[in-house]
Amino acid sequence: MIGKQILGISAFYHDSAAALVQSGELIAAAQEERFSRIRHDAAFPEQSIISCLNQADIKITDLDAIVFYDKPFLTFDRILETYLSYAPLGIRSFLRSMPIWLKEKLTLKILLKKHLARLAKCKEKQLPKLLFTEHHQSHAASAFYPSPYEKAAVLCLDGVGEWATTSAWMGDGKALTPLWQINFPHSLGLLYSAFTYFCGFRVNSGEYKLMGLAPYGIPRYRKLILDKVITVKADGSFQLNLDYFDFCVGSKMTNESFSLLFDGPPRVPESPITQRELDLAASVQAVTEEIILKLAKTLRDETQARNLCLAGGVALNCTANGKLLRSGLFDEIWVQPAAGDAGGAVGSAFAASFQYYQEDRSTTQTNVTTDSSTPSLNGNGNTKDDSMQGAYLGPDFSNREIQAFLDDKNIPYTLYDDSLLFDEVAGVIASGNVVGWFQGRMEFGPRALGNRSILADARNSEMQSKLNLKIKFRESFRPFAPAVLSEKAQEYFEQQQSSPYMLFTAPVSENIISPEGIAEMEQLDGLEKLSVTRSRLPATTHVDMTARIQTVNKKTNPRFHQLLTAFNNLTGCAAMINTSFNVRGEPIVCSLNDAFDCFINTHMDYLVLGNYVLEKKKQLAPQNTERYFELD
Ligand SMILES: [Fe+2]
Repeated sequence: MIGKQILGISAFYHDSAAALVQSGELIAAAQEERFSRIRHDAAFPEQSIISCLNQADIKITDLDAIVFYDKPFLTFDRILETYLSYAPLGIRSFLRSMPIWLKEKLTLKILLKKHLARLAKCKEKQLPKLLFTEHHQSHAASAFYPSPYEKAAVLCLDGVGEWATTSAWMGDGKALTPLWQINFPHSLGLLYSAFTYFCGFRVNSGEYKLMGLAPYGIPRYRKLILDKVITVKADGSFQLNLDYFDFCVGSKMTNESFSLLFDGPPRVPESPITQRELDLAASVQAVTEEIILKLAKTLRDETQARNLCLAGGVALNCTANGKLLRSGLFDEIWVQPAAGDAGGAVGSAFAASFQYYQEDRSTTQTNVTTDSSTPSLNGNGNTKDDSMQGAYLGPDFSNREIQAFLDDKNIPYTLYDDSLLFDEVAGVIASGNVVGWFQGRMEFGPRALGNRSILADARNSEMQSKLNLKIKFRESFRPFAPAVLSEKAQEYFEQQQSSPYMLFTAPVSENIISPEGIAEMEQLDGLEKLSVTRSRLPATTHVDMTARIQTVNKKTNPRFHQLLTAFNNLTGCAAMINTSFNVRGEPIVCSLNDAFDCFINTHMDYLVLGNYVLEKKKQLAPQNTERYFELD
């Protein structure tokens, strides 16, 4: 008998998304930006909902419940109280934001029903039940329920949702119990975002850049941050000093006092990056790591849990995650791959299934047959499988649809069957080409994990600059991540637990380090270090000798695993660059058309759509590699 069919929705803040859970199992999930092509699209996730329902072949009216990931009245309370307590300073920005809140947030239930009824082509009273979860409950549920653990501690860290910005939970079976929380405006996410803004990057998307810059700097502002900007107690709880921030009263993140403290005004976006920004990045990263470690220790002491689950935007900080894992505080750590607000759609649907309907959670707990060659790293690297299905939860395209698309557009291609495809593509990558790899279901979450990916040879020392400047049109310092065969990961990286979602950095192992490269880097400053060949995988080894790894296993992604195996057979190297299939400022490609467009308008050499291989040299379509890219 089929259990409850539940649609989770996150929307109207940033990263709108939908997710479908049937009988306690995650069937589909997608983010609206992929369909609308608007980055971080916050609109009602109409196309994501349609895509999720299509994958299960059901209609809105077949659902038992639709769950929204946030409680609009709690959010409104927080906005109102914040502005009132800062009046009259905050009155201008309060008045500016009021009409939006009044129009959209306060009438959210009405708005949601209107959108859903239009989509379902039914009357509002014929819609399924509408439920609401709290924002951090959605994050916590997204971290715990799909995790491989029966029991785990849960830590959620984000910018701000309703009131909570940090929350701790204990998950046990289908129960998820809140333990404690830290409230707005004291927020680790906002602290990181404030430095992101100050260093000239965009809040809510430039945080990755700041994390990428951190290894080039020296944390010389660390003490100053801890003395003046944030007070951290021994248990990890913290308080921001609001004298330095502007987000409560104005529209900027930081104010004059912040500029005075950190040697001048904020960096102008796109202007040269100086040593100050590198050092600020290193400093705020160090402070963030310290706080996360302290909070995790408190949680470990309180719960005695052996496993930890993480979610919330700050949980995408893979450097901090890697250090937390290596601290040994917990035996294992599982991070929700869509840790930001998009993942709230998954969490709210799971919360409805296990908490509201009390469905059986054991269906998501399948034992894995351990691969005898890798006793410590089974399927997803944990002792059991998680239920995110490798995050391959979006739409896919059959070979028949691909052929129809290519024929319709008169696009030249070569068709290979599986017995030849992987060797062919491995050969192309090994010869220095950059390949768009489009296979199966689209990933959910900010990372491309081998289905909407750009692949290249990580052994090539010029590949980092080539990919950044000629393919992705972005800053040359942006690091790339290696995908590695799960069973070979430990030959290249010091990682005990596997990392299927690219959410942990790990030190590169000694046998691939170049001692000459390290000596050379010691003579250089800041971004000059970028050009040094540091290891046998220079394009994916950060200057701090770590890599943000994706371990690829046969079970969750057999095709990517086959490609890496073919590459290893050909070259003796079981890793390659895996970066998301998009250009700067654009969402990751979703459809065949998006993929072809990106291929033709960049210096990408090959595009592989299912079993169809397109070579750039043979293309007839006009190319425009000078197009304008929106800054990210
Ligand atoms: Fe959030």
